Amino acid sequence: MEKIENWFYQNLEETTSTNDAVQEFLKKVRSPCILTANCQTGGRGRLGRQWQSLKGNLFASFAYQINLRNLKHMVILSGLAVAETVQYFLPSQIVEVKWPNDVLVDNKKISGILFEKSFDDYWVMGIGINVCHTPILQNALYQATSFADFGILCDRKEVLKILVKKFDFLKEQYEKEGFFSIKKTWLDKAYNRGKKINIQQNGKIKEGIFQDLSDDGDLILKTSNGCEKIIVGDLFV
Ligand code: BTN
Repeated sequence: MEKIENWFYQNLEETTSTNDAVQEFLKKVRSPCILTANCQTGGRGRLGRQWQSLKGNLFASFAYQINLRNLKHMVILSGLAVAETVQYFLPSQIVEVKWPNDVLVDNKKISGILFEKSFDDYWVMGIGINVCHTPILQNALYQATSFADFGILCDRKEVLKILVKKFDFLKEQYEKEGFFSIKKTWLDKAYNRGKKINIQQNGKIKEGIFQDLSDDGDLILKTSNGCEKIIVGDLFV
């Protein structure tokens, strides 16, 4: 069976969602594993949204064990790993992480990540990166972009290999040193930190200053009523 670093790896031609298909793979290998597909027919995003899955982009789901108390840290760490991967391929662009784990280039979204529970203490971390194509989005808070928009043509598997290296490195750093250094690196790349932002939660909008990231990985929003921890929501300006 193929491996990338220490992860069992499989690629499918087509599947509904790699987040589902990786769970079948996980049942076979019973170890940390990654499943990609050339095409998804039912790609999904955060908060019940759809993820447009154009052939040529990267759709990768990682299944591994996460202790529930570390889950929010892994959500933040995953965005950082993707941002560092994108930066590797687009060295002259400003790559930012948008809380909780979107990655933006030029104020446009190049990647999104969806965490879902699997069995026992396994979780699925599904990552979409726009490599060759830019989806045209309707009613989205952010327009999309891709590596191709910046004239970069690369192979999805090369992108995946760099992503695995970046992720493994950060995860090891987190396991040795805790969340502190991850948080610091993340904040250095954080979109609109210290500025006015809006948080959309269940159709309602909260306005404030993006003050900080809490030690749990929540966003600290300074509003006219004081500081508030935001656990879930969509950030936009
Ligand atoms: C978001 O920004 O809303 C998260 C998007 C996550 C998309 C990826 S693509 C691979 C994996 N399979 C899915 O169905 N979703 C994730």
